[in-house]
Amino acid sequence: MAKIKSAFFCSNCGYESSKWLGKCPTCLEWNTFTEEIINKNNTSNEDLNYLLNQNYESKTALTLKNIKSSKDVRILSIDNELNRVLGGGIVSGSLVLVGGEPGIGKSTLFLQLALSLSPRKILYVSGEESETQIKMRAERIAFYNEQLYILTETNTQKIFKQISLIEPELIIIDSIQTMHSILIESPQGSVSQIRQTAAEFQRLAKETHVPIFLIGHITKDGSIAGPKILEHIVDTVLQFEGDRHYSYRILRTLKNRFGNAAELGIYEMLHNGLKQVDNPSELLITQKPEALSGSTIAATMEGMRPLLVETQALVSQTIYSTPQRTVTGIDLRRLQILLAVLEKRGGFLFGNKDVFINIAGGIRLEDPSLDLALVCALLSSFQDIALSPKICFAGEVGLNGEIRGVTKIETRIKEADKLGFEKIIISGYNAPNAKNLKTNIEIVSLYKVEELYKKFFV
Ligand code: TYD
Ligand code: MG
Repeated sequence: MAKIKSAFFCSNCGYESSKWLGKCPTCLEWNTFTEEIINKNNTSNEDLNYLLNQNYESKTALTLKNIKSSKDVRILSIDNELNRVLGGGIVSGSLVLVGGEPGIGKSTLFLQLALSLSPRKILYVSGEESETQIKMRAERIAFYNEQLYILTETNTQKIFKQISLIEPELIIIDSIQTMHSILIESPQGSVSQIRQTAAEFQRLAKETHVPIFLIGHITKDGSIAGPKILEHIVDTVLQFEGDRHYSYRILRTLKNRFGNAAELGIYEMLHNGLKQVDNPSELLITQKPEALSGSTIAATMEGMRPLLVETQALVSQTIYSTPQRTVTGIDLRRLQILLAVLEKRGGFLFGNKDVFINIAGGIRLEDPSLDLALVCALLSSFQDIALSPKICFAGEVGLNGEIRGVTKIETRIKEADKLGFEKIIISGYNAPNAKNLKTNIEIVSLYKVEELYKKFFV
């Protein structure tokens, strides 16, 4: 009998070690190592091919000239947000990993996709819910697909058998953590099972040219192995995120072999499924009758799409010895840098002030062009001077207090103009790009944070 081998894996990043470790040397997480039984000899390619009912032929190397070129064949769904994050539709033979916290709406999104792709033949494999539960969910959603097959199964070999019978045009696996391959002895959801089953689906996608979506759960406490360990083997990684207290959901591209890796899709969770949000800026700017201090509008970009968002700052006298710095929607370090710049360049002392930052709508932003709006929101709250809600900002702030140019300034200005803003403050370095735009909006260009202060707060 073959000797049973075991190894320790980090459930966060998949790092393998022969002994238990307290801290993972690659992702630096603590207490993530679990022991798993592996039997490497079993997982050879021959076995996989046998199970995929395919004959193993040894491959010969080819020159580029002899490789058949294939056009990038894509399935276009009626969900424009999904098409956008995938770089223009679902690429045939692609393996897409979709991560997200439990309950955020992953199953809903992909069941809706399967239903909306009618009359294409789709296989939706669920290891989490029963057929009746899935049917109940499907009945809430407005689409109907005669050719949608539901399979509640977790054994990959049995799933492959069904796939060869049904021959679907698209496969959805919900979720990869529930899948289980008989080639590996570790339990479901362990690092080696996730890797093994994902590798089997990858081979299937490449050999049959059927696109496969793998849904994966992310948990903050790392109690189950996360989809992070698969990021390198899949073609595209999407993340579905949002605050459960808001109805907005964001589908974000983290990696994409077939398109831009910084795209964003926005949805609203309704009682009958997810609705695409076509005009997100209108939703992210709260409508208020009067101007309030501490609130400014940033003209940001997420991927190819302009997004106007409200940034709010609250600066108040601290009662503790260490002032509080609390942010939602941006990186805390970003705020700390901006506060230091304001202190050094403008003489604003935040040392005895608590500072809170919030991005309206529960969305998280990384675009550095947010800086200018943040700085203005901070100053506005500090001085308790409200700015007109008809002004918006787009500029990055450097450590010397200089206002740097940002990408795609024309798109940002056009979006602000379309939404009825009267004035946009940009970097002087961006001014040449904005010169020839035919818009009604007044464009103000500045070079230094000091100028900003003089313009609005004295
Ligand atoms: P679900 O897709 O099950 O999340 P996940 O697969 O990411 O765990 O979504 C669950 C939530 O979505 C649940 O709280 C109910 C809500 N929901 C709606 O609000 N409207 C709907 O039409 C559907 C199907 C679900
Ligand atoms: Mg689910």
